[in-house]
Amino acid sequence: MTKHSAGRKALDYLNGRGIDQKVIETFALGFSPLSGTGLVKYLIDKKRFLKEEVIEAGLAYQRGSQVADFFRGRLMFPLIDHRDNVVGFSGRIMDNSDTTSKYINTRETLIYHKGDQIYGLNVTKEAIRRENQAIIVEGEFDVLSCFQNGVGQVIAVKGTALTESQVSLLSRFTQKLTFCFDGDKAGQEAIKRSLVVVEKKGLSPTVIEIPGGKDPDEAFKEHSALFKKAVKEDKSVYDYLLGKSLQRENIDTAEGKKCVADLMLPFIAQISNEIIKEHYLKKIAESLDTTYESIARESVRLAKNEKKVVTATQKPVKRSKEETLEEYLLALIVQSEKPKQAIRKAIEIMSESMSRDRAYHKIMDRLLAHFGHTDHFDAKKFADALPQELLQAYDTSLLFPLPMFVDGDKLQGEIENVSEKLKVVYIQEKMKKLATEIKKTEQEGDESQVDELRKQFSYLATHLGGIAPNTTN
Ligand code: CTP
Ligand code: MN
Repeated sequence: MTKHSAGRKALDYLNGRGIDQKVIETFALGFSPLSGTGLVKYLIDKKRFLKEEVIEAGLAYQRGSQVADFFRGRLMFPLIDHRDNVVGFSGRIMDNSDTTSKYINTRETLIYHKGDQIYGLNVTKEAIRRENQAIIVEGEFDVLSCFQNGVGQVIAVKGTALTESQVSLLSRFTQKLTFCFDGDKAGQEAIKRSLVVVEKKGLSPTVIEIPGGKDPDEAFKEHSALFKKAVKEDKSVYDYLLGKSLQRENIDTAEGKKCVADLMLPFIAQISNEIIKEHYLKKIAESLDTTYESIARESVRLAKNEKKVVTATQKPVKRSKEETLEEYLLALIVQSEKPKQAIRKAIEIMSESMSRDRAYHKIMDRLLAHFGHTDHFDAKKFADALPQELLQAYDTSLLFPLPMFVDGDKLQGEIENVSEKLKVVYIQEKMKKLATEIKKTEQEGDESQVDELRKQFSYLATHLGGIAPNTTN
């Protein structure tokens, strides 16, 4: 890139952001030409790859009868695994006037799984091992800036909470994970969502508080010395979260104390080390001016409730057909380029028959409400507004590996198809329930009620007859 004229623009952009030559080379940054077929031509005409291979690798897509580059006119970041294999790419726009997504990433392919990928690890794993610390930042530029400024033990998770497989991989290099996310509420929520897996692997989680509350890239530009100091003074996640909630609540009131306890105890309860756990229980008791005994009791009580919830959701080992379909449908919607159009279509098809009691339904209702007042969709911000109990279902859908869709129309077709299938399943379910009820009412001898139920049953049956032939398969 640095020697070719086509890469000039990318180089200027990087220089403008203060990234130096050595870093550009270390992270193998590149550029995708605007022409829209540069890479395809090179790979297919020169390198003799098959069209299908290039599409399957997520580098191109079918546009009518043509094959076109997936990335166009973007600054390119190769996504490389810790064994130095390039598994995908992310591409950033270089003009603020560009209204398409700021970053786009290779779709899920045979070798690229978003939930497994850790940006930068191929470069920084030695430093991480040496420092026994991995500083986790949100984006590519945060990694580049940290690296350039001598903070080498850094990686990025690209705007989502840590997954179990990412933590597993990191645990092979370090015992300490240090979150360095944006100081806003979104950043805090991402930390909280990551904690469960971090504790499960017995790693110790700490936090760097960024002066000014911006991201590390901006912090280096505005408060370099302060930020470097903050990096050295990372503190335990639990101290950080406790501090934040003490700031927010009025702990002179009983209600305020309860809020802090409710917020903190679920996280403290999952700490694997008993000594550390007791340390924080004591600290919370002191901060709230209450006794250790009541905090410990409350923590046991919450832990019991928590267990019930966990076992309840884990029970159905074999998932029902509708659950599988719901998960897939929500994945199609939240990963689509036009989520507003997608959710509207799905709800239009299923609305009447959809019940509203499961996590997937609740998320869909919230999505619909979201698009009631805006066209914009930020998957991360949306997650922050979700209640705790919906997050797991949401994260699953966001990271769900989807097959390749040639274009928007094909994807829209698939969304309609799955919605129709779900509608059929929902109606069949309702009919099953009605049939049981009819039998029961017959035995009770309530003739008029039986009539009413039969009417409902035959209405559903006709409805099903009207849609079933071309949708069930
Ligand atoms: N991200 C993404 N897809 C998007 C938006 C964001 O993959 N549509 C990832 C990118 O890795 C990005 C990170 O989430 O770096 C955090 O996003 P954001 O805070 O919006 O951007 P910045 O990291 O500040 O990006 P930059 O500094 O380049 O403006
Ligand atoms: Mn940034």
